[in-house]
Amino acid sequence: MTNFAIFASGNGSNAENIIQYFKDHKFIRCALVVSNKKNAHVLERAKKHDIPAAYIPTHIFRENPEEAINTLEKHNIDFIVLAGFMVLVPSAIIQRYPNKIINIHPALLPDYGGKGMYGDNVHQAIIQANEKQSGISIHYVNEKYDDGQVIFQAACPVSKDDTVESLKEKVHQLEYEHYPPIIEQAIEETRSFG
Ligand code: GRF
Repeated sequence: MTNFAIFASGNGSNAENIIQYFKDHKFIRCALVVSNKKNAHVLERAKKHDIPAAYIPTHIFRENPEEAINTLEKHNIDFIVLAGFMVLVPSAIIQRYPNKIINIHPALLPDYGGKGMYGDNVHQAIIQANEKQSGISIHYVNEKYDDGQVIFQAACPVSKDDTVESLKEKVHQLEYEHYPPIIEQAIEETRSFG
């Protein structure tokens, strides 16, 4: 079995979609959900599906990442999936999981990425700039926000009538469709190449 952890800070609709996709998978298991927010809805979603859930406060990630790594090792985590995780992943974790951490960003990187470009801010900026399209980017995680190698992108049209809410909905649909199989593919690659 390859065990992965999902890191999320908020609602966790992607997290739940991923949990469902891997529920009966033969060799890949969602073994842990981690949140830096004690009351994040994602922790409830994990419990509903009998997935272990851990609250690791932001200051632990920033000041004592070894403690976070201990939790991951206790659960035999081999791979990390970020889904709406609002903390910069510390380099100690990146070094412990080289090319084994991926993130999804709700826009077509390298545009509309980087510090401050998260959640509704991204959709707002795209609408304000009258962009004709947006989409999703799935990428490996390095020490900078939204900067690692892009693995996959999918686009959707942005119309004049789109609002932050309607664009967010379109982007979420792309996320639900594409993130689980790309996670599967990325994990399969680590299984073949070590
Ligand atoms: C998603 O749009 C994801 O791309 C971004 O944060 C959002 C999380 O949404 N990084 P949810 O919590 O999965 O509903």
